[in-house]
Amino acid sequence: MGQTWFNSVACILAILFAVSACKDSSTQNDAMPSQDQKWWKEAIVYQIYPRSFKDSDGDGVGDLQGIIQKLDYVQSLGVTAVWLNPIYTSPNADNGYDVSDYRNIMEEFGTMSDFDQMLDGMHQRGIKLVMDIVVNHSSNEHEWFKQSRSSRDNPYRDYYHWWPAEKGEPPYRYSLFDAKGDAWQFDSLTNAYYLHYFAKQQPDLNWSNPKVRQEVYDIMKFWAEKGVDGFRLDAFQFAAKDTTYPKFPDGFEKDFIQFYAMQDGIHDYLKEMNQEVFSKYDVMSVAEGAGRNFEDAHKLVDQNRNELNMAYAFEGVDIPKYEGYDLATIKEVFTKWDQEFANDGWLSIFLANHDQARMVSRWGNDSEEYRDVSAKLLNTFLLSMRGTPYCYYSDELGMTNIDFDSISQYQDIAAINGYQKALSEGEDMELFMKRLNFTSRDNGRTPMQWDGSEHAGFTKGTPWLPVNDNYVYINVEDENSSPNSVLNHFRKMTELRKKNPALIYGAYELVAAEHPTIYAYTRVLEDEKVLVLLNFSEETSEIKLKDDQDNHSIMINNYPNIEFFENSVKMKPYQAIVLNIQ
Ligand code: NOJ
Repeated sequence: MGQTWFNSVACILAILFAVSACKDSSTQNDAMPSQDQKWWKEAIVYQIYPRSFKDSDGDGVGDLQGIIQKLDYVQSLGVTAVWLNPIYTSPNADNGYDVSDYRNIMEEFGTMSDFDQMLDGMHQRGIKLVMDIVVNHSSNEHEWFKQSRSSRDNPYRDYYHWWPAEKGEPPYRYSLFDAKGDAWQFDSLTNAYYLHYFAKQQPDLNWSNPKVRQEVYDIMKFWAEKGVDGFRLDAFQFAAKDTTYPKFPDGFEKDFIQFYAMQDGIHDYLKEMNQEVFSKYDVMSVAEGAGRNFEDAHKLVDQNRNELNMAYAFEGVDIPKYEGYDLATIKEVFTKWDQEFANDGWLSIFLANHDQARMVSRWGNDSEEYRDVSAKLLNTFLLSMRGTPYCYYSDELGMTNIDFDSISQYQDIAAINGYQKALSEGEDMELFMKRLNFTSRDNGRTPMQWDGSEHAGFTKGTPWLPVNDNYVYINVEDENSSPNSVLNHFRKMTELRKKNPALIYGAYELVAAEHPTIYAYTRVLEDEKVLVLLNFSEETSEIKLKDDQDNHSIMINNYPNIEFFENSVKMKPYQAIVLNIQ
């Protein structure tokens, strides 16, 4: 069961919650498009985790030929761009986020000619390709790092952050993935420590070194020349560091973003990258992370800054916890981020990715009864909000978390090292395992469920991560043939978004803000007005429409009917309705 929070509000469910469902948002300012039109604002991005999408050669690992086989499927979703997680050569300490050669393809995934064929296939189908650029750090097996660690006077020494041991222990830095939480790794070869904000196999690159920056721009140009259409900058908000390594206050790791993100120099690097790369090609750019606050985020993405096109802000995606979540927080956070970027700057909108558990298990309700409707509701939300939507592979089917009960089943370095850290710190391991079961990244990385055959049609070999047993009834083949499946609802939503510019550029306004179970908002563009009603609960809930909403037509509904009465809508559990208001 994904969510139980609603039990606590069960008492309100019988009550008619009579609210004014829509403030008059048709003022001139709200109705006019306040944003320039751009292809990347109109894009619907589909994220493919290549390791888990489709295996073409039976080694149990997804690959580029597998993606090629499924391009017609991707096109059939109505998405217009693909973001591909890293496919470069990598020892795979962190599934490709530890790159050892930025100009080559990981052997398990195929060859450069497979890549060219895949890119061509996407372009022929009108799908753009966004590559993941992982340059806050490289792999410790990258030639740069091998050189760097070989001697203190090697020309590559300053490509990374080193602290000579004769100066004593370096000031504490927290590592997100380290089993001891320590971001400095001692290396006896040169009697020095190197810095790694992630795993020790992921040494941080030294961005204050102009040679490093030039190397990265050259790599990006290499891919842009090949014809890729965009770049997602992995962990880039951490790239700038104070290389005097000042001591941070005790306990800083509890709020490490304040100390790690957007440090001095970052905007200079981004402006330089923009000038060197983005300004020369028709590519889009998106940063993972939007900094510490709105000001940071605006500096990253406002048009006149000439840095990036958009960013992913984490505040929204971080809301659901093992303990549940509160709809009021969702409304508040998504509304606040929308309003802040209504006129300048642009953001992405997402509910899941490869660093999260599955969308329906975290945000919806993955019980047999409600999985289908709640997955449809979440896709309706994702595809009717402002911001470029990023849809994670499998969420179009409503795929769910997998139930691992032993640490030996996990593959993710964050889970394994996190377990070691918790154990050594004497944490309640039973609770740790329950939380991990709910939040682990492996949940979101299980293989795509294509059909009801063995291993869900993902591979003819042994899958690198187990396939969820529910593949027998949650799979593409079955959902394709059922007109009311989660998959076909997703397709209807992408079509709706593409046909209705109000869903892309329209002003967003939260309505019935205090409603405890329904999230309602309007999207308005010139004379096009859309009302979205989402019942985020497993109980019947009611909402009153305003008089001017009487005259409407139904654009989409995840149930066969809508129960209107006396100017109200009685919404079924997880019902999602989009109305066009005439
Ligand atoms: C963020 C990526 O999304 C995540 O998967 C990865 O582990 C870290 N950055 C380190 O590259």
